[in-house]
Amino acid sequence: MGSTISERVVDRLPWLDGVAEKTQPKVREVIDRGGTTLRDVLDGVWFEVPLHPVLTDVPIGSWTATLVFDGLDAATDSKAARNAADATLALGIVGAIAAAVTGLSDWRYLSGGSRRMGVAHGLLNTAGLTLNIASLALRAKGSRSAGRLAFLTGFSINGAAAHLGGELSYNYGLRVNRNVFEQDGPDEYVPVLEESELSDSGMRRVEVGGVGILLSRAQGGKICAIAATCNHFSGPLQEGEREGDTVVCPWHKSRFDLCTGQAIDGPAVFPQSHYHTRVRNGNIEVKADAKNVQKKVR
Ligand code: FES
Repeated sequence: MGSTISERVVDRLPWLDGVAEKTQPKVREVIDRGGTTLRDVLDGVWFEVPLHPVLTDVPIGSWTATLVFDGLDAATDSKAARNAADATLALGIVGAIAAAVTGLSDWRYLSGGSRRMGVAHGLLNTAGLTLNIASLALRAKGSRSAGRLAFLTGFSINGAAAHLGGELSYNYGLRVNRNVFEQDGPDEYVPVLEESELSDSGMRRVEVGGVGILLSRAQGGKICAIAATCNHFSGPLQEGEREGDTVVCPWHKSRFDLCTGQAIDGPAVFPQSHYHTRVRNGNIEVKADAKNVQKKVR
């Protein structure tokens, strides 16, 4: 039994899992066919933030404006307000389609309750979007009252869908940087490994101050340290493939710079937490980067 009202409602709809099982493999196949570049764009890697929440602002803002202009038109019979309502409705439709594509990209890795919630979110948004497209068509045919009614219904459904999207982030942690929930790591240098135990091409996970750290030696010889837990869904980076001075997460193939922690390929978009290193008396020592600590919600 879920812990929120939305979870309890969605958990009573097991047919959503059937929809997910049929749809998810196809979504993955289509997105994977586009290659790394398409995946990185949809995930928001180049923008360093998840793209879906950014794009959802377009329909939310545009359709809120439609609501205002429709109200003005109804009150004043203003042609300018009417035109503005139609234009913002159309803009919102375009934005909603773009948001849907990036939302599908985020959803393709989910399982269990979060996947089910994602299906409910997507189906409600599809219903709302369909009504808003119908509204635009009705307006174009001169059926303005019916168009306004279709829009009001669609916009209300989109509002409910947006709530479920919020649940996915705030309750399930979708697209949240998992590194911020880890311990800070040591604020002074502490020895973690004998230098001789770190081979030139290898990676070693060490644990210090309650946090897992991935040590590696860059091709230039520099010793580097980033969080060992992938900030996407907490995959174990020490089990990933090393490609030059980058590591590929074994779970969903995010690729990170081993020295800076920067996300080079998604789905992760945030940099891994970074640690300073030095060698003293034959031991590798690490300490936390102050930026890791500043980022955390206290
Ligand atoms: S856990 Fe998903 S890419 Fe690492």
